[in-house]
Amino acid sequence: MNSKPRHSAISRRHFIALASAAAVAPTIIPASALGKDKRPSPSNRITMGVVGWGMMGPGNTAAFLKENDCQVVAACDLDSIPLQKAVDTINNHYGNKDCAAYHDYRKMMARDDIDAVMLAVPDHWHALTAVEACRQGKDVYGEKPLARTIAEQQAIVEAVHDYKRVWQTGSWQRSGSHFRKAAEIVRNDLIGKVTHVEVGLPGGHVDFKKTGDHMTPTAPPKNLDYNMWLGPSQMMPYIEGRVHMNWRWNYNTGGGQLLDWVGHHVDIAHWGMNFDDAGPYEVEGHGEFPAKDAVWNTATKYRINLKYPHDITMTIAGGHPDIKMGTKWYGTNGWVWVDRGGFDCSNPDWKKGDDLADDLAKVRLYRSDEHHRNFLDCVKSRKPTVTPVKTAHHSSIPGHLGLISMLVNRKIQWNHLDETIYKDKEASKLLTRDYRDPWSLYKNNIFE
Ligand SMILES: NC(=O)c1ccc[n+]([C@@H]2O[C@H](COP(=O)([O-])OP(=O)(O)OC[C@H]3O[C@@H](n4cnc5c(N)ncnc54)[C@H](O)[C@@H]3O)[C@@H](O)[C@H]2O)c1
Repeated sequence: MNSKPRHSAISRRHFIALASAAAVAPTIIPASALGKDKRPSPSNRITMGVVGWGMMGPGNTAAFLKENDCQVVAACDLDSIPLQKAVDTINNHYGNKDCAAYHDYRKMMARDDIDAVMLAVPDHWHALTAVEACRQGKDVYGEKPLARTIAEQQAIVEAVHDYKRVWQTGSWQRSGSHFRKAAEIVRNDLIGKVTHVEVGLPGGHVDFKKTGDHMTPTAPPKNLDYNMWLGPSQMMPYIEGRVHMNWRWNYNTGGGQLLDWVGHHVDIAHWGMNFDDAGPYEVEGHGEFPAKDAVWNTATKYRINLKYPHDITMTIAGGHPDIKMGTKWYGTNGWVWVDRGGFDCSNPDWKKGDDLADDLAKVRLYRSDEHHRNFLDCVKSRKPTVTPVKTAHHSSIPGHLGLISMLVNRKIQWNHLDETIYKDKEASKLLTRDYRDPWSLYKNNIFE
């Protein structure tokens, strides 16, 4: 990752200017996209490719399709059924047939007329797709958690930094006004000095397939490139209940409820604590796990106790009813709780109004009213988004460390500055995973 990006939005525009000057028609925006009512001219639109349709792809893509200064020009998926759905959705929206379909994300990302990508692929694919996007000069809207391991997260952080990309994480709660208000109450010391934080996440597993017998090995369906879908993960027989959506319940591809949710509620916890650039120094997790060889083998119940600087402790728990879903900060002078469906606090005055009153808010947090719009604005301004890559890295680290502590069944010490686990070889090994050939995070996987 030493070379500079091959392309960027700016160089593409520069190319357009040169092409126009030489009376060569730039071919990068299809003719049918020209002249739409009240839309910025095609050369001023942010061109996007979407990777991964599945559960999260459609919502993210819809949010970009409705923005006038954005043009979704390509879709990619390893399964031909969702890929076709993606292409049809995008073409129906624009009333044309211009959306290009890709099976291999590297081919899509090699296009120099694409400015940005949306990545909604399973966690075991986050790092490879994100690093390749950066290497190809794309700005990235990428899903949480940042990646499946801390080492993969570090690779993404490095790539975003080296290639000077704009990054937005799908931790969209930061664009919700009641989450911002809750975090502002904490940041403004209204609850006094923070002493303890509770983060309640789900336990168990959710069966997204629900119907039919999908838990036994079969041949993969023809529409899915199962070998590539597994990508860097270890080879396992195809079981429908371990692939689309349910991949999160097996450690070969996901991290269970803990890693599925840590990028939401710990993300908000850190925002209030002003710890976007910090982390715990001691982590002790205990969990209940199905058998290692179970189709779904991720922890069904877990409790992780963490120590942070300034004498702050945190408990992250799933499947423990004493810890309420959401984020709750306790201070020497009160408490605040926030979740998707609610907000509560110890002082009725803090509840008044959508925003925290001016006389209470000396510190105002980054305001984003719509997460995807915030990304597009930052692609243009080159300013940081509301959930930049380092924030996402730190938001997910407590979940990764909690899982590692559960797996080695002991307390671990974390140095958040050099990102190492203190004197524990077995735990340190779990900061990364072996990649299955031919995939490698550190060299470009050239496609044929
Ligand atoms: N922000 C949120 O609120 C939220 C909610 C749900 C999921 N997510 C995240 O979104 C991501 C996707 O989750 P999901 O539930 O939509 O998964 P999913 O399995 O439903 O969809 C993933 C899609 O990606 C495709 N895919 C897999 N590997 C690919 C590759 N290398 N190239 C191209 N396509 C590939 C699959 O075929 C599938 O269609 C995950 O990171 C998840 O954590 C975020």
